[in-house]
Amino acid sequence: MRKLKFVTTNPNKFLEAANFLAEIELERVDRAYTEVQADTLNEVVKHGLRELADQGFENFFIEDAGLFIHSLKGFPGVYSAYVNRTIGCNGILKLAGNNRKAEFRSVVGLYLDKKINLFEGVCEGEISGEKRGKSGFGYDPIFIPENETKTFAEMEIKEKNSYSHRARALVKIFSYLNPG
Ligand code: IMP
Repeated sequence: MRKLKFVTTNPNKFLEAANFLAEIELERVDRAYTEVQADTLNEVVKHGLRELADQGFENFFIEDAGLFIHSLKGFPGVYSAYVNRTIGCNGILKLAGNNRKAEFRSVVGLYLDKKINLFEGVCEGEISGEKRGKSGFGYDPIFIPENETKTFAEMEIKEKNSYSHRARALVKIFSYLNPG
């Protein structure tokens, strides 16, 4: 069994990863890193990986995600954390308009044996008409994945993992570590 650190200040993200990567021994490192203002999640993740590697961390991964609303040309995207802190789910519900198609994107950055690898996951879906559910975090109460009626916040972790952007990125780490 391989041991990996997941560096995240978000306990919910760690629970999702630990539930999904049951075959890997995961340790949570509750440590913040600079989330640079950049145009893509990839750039944010690469910067964070290098910063933590420079501080001496080894064999770890980080993850950055965002909500991209199609009618808003991908907004809030890389600004998702700021927008969540300011206008929050209620603000997004008002902004979304009639075309509510959206997607969550996740980029997991792995720093293993001094090499960087990025893995991406996407979950298509739509913005709900109102906030529903109590589980999860962030935009979970207003996001319904494709072929579902429930929001992420109305799901248990296992069910969210069967659709989520994060799980779809994490499964690629698993294949990378266990090829063939
Ligand atoms: P970050 O990956 O922590 O930078 O996330 C950016 C913003 O998107 C934050 O406000 C998070 O709460 C939100 N977010 C990230 N992943 C998810 C998710 O799986 N569900 C709901 N909101 C999320």
